[in-house]
Amino acid sequence: MDSLTSCLVVFQISVFILQLDQINCQPLYENPQEDSLTDPGHLYCRKYYERELSHVKRQTSLQKELEMTRGTCTTPDFPFTSEPPPYLLSGQNITRGSKGKGFIVLFMKNIVDTTKKVYVTSERDFHMNISTSSRLDPSLKIQIDKNVFVNSSHLIILPTAIELNYFQKEVKSVLIETSDDVNVISFDEGDRTAGSTANIPIHKLSTKYIVISTAPSRKSQLAVAAIKDNTAISVTFKMERYLSLKIENHTFYRGDVFSFSLDSFETYQIAHSTDLTGSVIQSSYPIAAFSGNDCNTIDGIGFCDHLITQLPPTGFVDNMYIVPPNNDDRDTIIRITAIEKSDIFYVISAANKSLSLYKYNSFDIRISSNQVCYIKSTTPVIVTGIGLASKKISYLGDPSMTIIPGINQYLNYYKIVIPNGYVNGFVSVMIKESSLDFFRINSTVINICDIVFEKNVLAGNITYNVRTMRVAGGVLTARTLDGEKFGMIFLGVHIAKAYSFSVNCLLP
Ligand SMILES: *[C@@H]1O[C@H](CO)[C@@H](O)[C@H](O)[C@H]1NC(C)=O
Ligand SMILES: *[C@@H]1O[C@H](CO)[C@@H](O)[C@H](O)[C@H]1NC(C)=O
Ligand SMILES: *[C@@H]1O[C@H](CO)[C@@H](O)[C@H](O)[C@H]1NC(C)=O
Ligand SMILES: *[C@@H]1O[C@H](CO)[C@@H](O)[C@H](O)[C@H]1NC(C)=O
Ligand SMILES: *[C@@H]1O[C@H](CO)[C@@H](O)[C@H](O)[C@H]1NC(C)=O
Ligand SMILES: *[C@@H]1O[C@H](CO)[C@@H](O)[C@H](O)[C@H]1NC(C)=O
Ligand SMILES: *[C@@H]1O[C@H](CO)[C@@H](O)[C@H](O)[C@H]1NC(C)=O
Repeated sequence: MDSLTSCLVVFQISVFILQLDQINCQPLYENPQEDSLTDPGHLYCRKYYERELSHVKRQTSLQKELEMTRGTCTTPDFPFTSEPPPYLLSGQNITRGSKGKGFIVLFMKNIVDTTKKVYVTSERDFHMNISTSSRLDPSLKIQIDKNVFVNSSHLIILPTAIELNYFQKEVKSVLIETSDDVNVISFDEGDRTAGSTANIPIHKLSTKYIVISTAPSRKSQLAVAAIKDNTAISVTFKMERYLSLKIENHTFYRGDVFSFSLDSFETYQIAHSTDLTGSVIQSSYPIAAFSGNDCNTIDGIGFCDHLITQLPPTGFVDNMYIVPPNNDDRDTIIRITAIEKSDIFYVISAANKSLSLYKYNSFDIRISSNQVCYIKSTTPVIVTGIGLASKKISYLGDPSMTIIPGINQYLNYYKIVIPNGYVNGFVSVMIKESSLDFFRINSTVINICDIVFEKNVLAGNITYNVRTMRVAGGVLTARTLDGEKFGMIFLGVHIAKAYSFSVNCLLP
């Protein structure tokens, strides 16, 4: 087959059938040329590079025209330098988004034994100290505590027994300290179960969180970890009226407050058979807070799956969102949770709708696998995307949950590890249409054949392009050559399991 025909075939196959990861269109650049511009401040280089950019733009639009006339996907063969010069990357080493040098990680209860994975990535080599409480069971502690030197990305595997138990003060948090800024993503993975979340650095942790979960088929749950001794913590429960929650010897109803205190490294997990969404966690000193479900079936489709998210501090939450769909015929439930009273406006396809939400209340919207939703609120709201099991392809998927990044939280550079071992790995990108040509993954132009969904959406008066593309496992870098910011959501779909995470859900 010539490359054009094989591309076409792969495109058609990948749209209609799964599991053909082994066949792939040729990447544009097998070996992206290193940029030879070593003198960043030099005016000549700048001019040269700007000219290069305009060439790139012209070439890409030419390529588009070609594709339109051929009505298929092609792999263009005009090479160009694709690494931006260093001056465009200045600020890449500023601590921002969810990057940081200290993280506190925990794993909530799952219903089966799973592998607890933590991916740590940085731009450079770095030193990393992984530590736990001196009171942790020594047989566990010895498996976890480490000082390591890392070549820019590292996978930490924690023992299954680090998982929290319900209603017990334990010392099951893990402290990760690094010499350079890193991103930390945790995965709870097992047979037919997967959940994933980006972790929030200690310097961005706060004293107030709103719990996000889904109506449970088993348990809705939340967990906290303290970083300082004698941290006073309170949880104000929001749950179904008249359904009580028993903790130790006390019975709590909706609106009741459970107070306790934790020392550094101590963790506490709460679970209930009703949805805890909208419960409020407050503390006397910053803590890390997580929530989700142990294993949830939603809408009676598919099986149950583990849902986890580290909660964003309420002070860093945005009010404008673009929610991409899930692929593979997976519907998405969009859960909007108000921090204060909000007037919300949202658009799906051409339909505009509005609603008002009281403090801590939630509203669910559902989109299909070919719809995009734009949301704007008068006050900050937390927006969560919950992907469901595939409606058409039996056994594919199952619920996954991620906090959607707000438009004002987008970054212009991401470096992340995509785990291997999933039938489909996707990334959804929300980017200004005007910057589409400048977008690069692994320093190369997106191969049209990898795009499985694409739609434009108006956010205020700016047109954004929403694309979902297939990605291979391994370290992935994404950037725009013009420095424009964009949002990214990563997802993996497998037989009876799915995960999704977004890298940054914090305002700068
Ligand atoms: C990174 O930070 C160092 C010092 O903080 C600075 O000297 C250097 O220029 C920065 N690099 C970039 C690419 O911004
Ligand atoms: C890791 O980095 C060190 C020092 O930079 C280098 O010597 C070593 O070869 C690297 N290892 C790998 C696997 O790249
Ligand atoms: C790791 O711990 C060692 C001492 O145990 C300390 O010297 C080093 O600064 C620590 N590194 C980080 C990144 O915290
Ligand atoms: C709960 O009550 C039982 C008996 O009523 C008692 O034995 C137990 O110590 C109490 N537990 C706590 C944590 O107060
Ligand atoms: C929907 O909202 C957009 C953007 O605010 C506006 O331009 C359009 O007229 C609205 N359409 C309807 C039917 O209200
Ligand atoms: C787009 O909207 C922003 C504020 O919403 C406004 O400042 C800007 O002028 C508008 N741009 C155009 C081209 O209308
Ligand atoms: C990006 O490059 C890394 C190797 O550097 C590779 O493992 C990974 O699969 C690539 N990802 C994509 C989406 O091309």
